Amino acid sequence: MALLEVQGLQTHFFTRRGVVKAVDGVSFSLDKGQALGLVGESGSGKSVTCLSIMRLVAPPGRIVGGKILLDGEDILAKSEPEMQKVRGKRISIVLQDPMSSLNPAFTIGDQVGEAIRAHQGTRGARLKEQIVEMLRLVRVSSPEMRAGQFPHHLSGGMRQRVVGAIALSCQPRVLIADEPTTSLDVTIQLQYLKLLKDIQQRSQLAIIFITHDFGVAARMCDTVAVMYAGKIVEIAGVRQLFNNPVHPYTQALMGSVCRPGQKVERLYSIEGQPPRLSNLPPGCSFAPRCCDATDRCRGNPFPPTVSVEKGHSATCWKLV
Ligand SMILES: Nc1ncnc2c1ncn2[C@@H]1O[C@H](COP(=O)(O)OP(=O)(O)OP(=O)(O)O)[C@@H](O)[C@H]1O
Ligand SMILES: [Mg+2]
Repeated sequence: MALLEVQGLQTHFFTRRGVVKAVDGVSFSLDKGQALGLVGESGSGKSVTCLSIMRLVAPPGRIVGGKILLDGEDILAKSEPEMQKVRGKRISIVLQDPMSSLNPAFTIGDQVGEAIRAHQGTRGARLKEQIVEMLRLVRVSSPEMRAGQFPHHLSGGMRQRVVGAIALSCQPRVLIADEPTTSLDVTIQLQYLKLLKDIQQRSQLAIIFITHDFGVAARMCDTVAVMYAGKIVEIAGVRQLFNNPVHPYTQALMGSVCRPGQKVERLYSIEGQPPRLSNLPPGCSFAPRCCDATDRCRGNPFPPTVSVEKGHSATCWKLV
């Protein structure tokens, strides 16, 4: 059984201007120790997918369909108090901006200790020990001293590692990292990614890694899912995807259409705008921007998901 299984997830926002189908039929599974990358342009539904898994989508957003199974249990059937035992403890999330995840008025030690206290009931000297242990795990220097300091005493890179320590403090099975390094400079970014990878490999942690950067996905992930307009349009092992991207959107993202043979690591900007999710065209959502689109792509139904080889599938008429 997969550790985390997402089946046909649909999360829609019911706004005055219409229904925004931010996530519309997303499925994937994640085993322990596996790292899944979610890539795709801004607004493609990566964060909403992950917030749905944490059950943190706020109105006007609502999960309207699908299943999220954690160790076979449906998270969507849980009450809010039950969910509070899942969050932070079994699934944790680290966000992009470390400052907004840290409270400036509390010490580093208080914030790292909070989840441990809440979930495990640890107190006193044992709690202090665990706090220092967590800070050491994420390689914060002089952890005993740092525990007594406030967030503004720390550098950006160190704050990000503290946020990591908080997320990992209760030894979650799944860590969601939503672009955790974009606010860091390149060297610090690489150090942080390496740290996460080390922790992941040592503890069999499963990671969902959201990124704009294919280079980061290649370094961190075993499997990569490419999202477009609320759907996964291609999913594959990282090598399969890099060697043989089949969906025109993935190809465009990798720049492989315009620059054959050249290794491209950053997401390229693609001609045209991502569609408005409250007013999607009929048929394939990517058709209006796709060089390969035919009449079949521009009309209903939506293209089927086709298996390219084991572990590699894509949603495109071209493959049928
Ligand atoms: N509160 C909301 N009300 C209406 N629409 C929303 C709301 N929150 C998110 N959306 C819409 O959901 C879609 C998906 O957003 P999401 O944040 O998941 O994108 P993303 O892929 O994470 O983008 P980015 O790379 O910019 O972080 C967007 O089109 C966004 O406009
Ligand atoms: Mg996002």
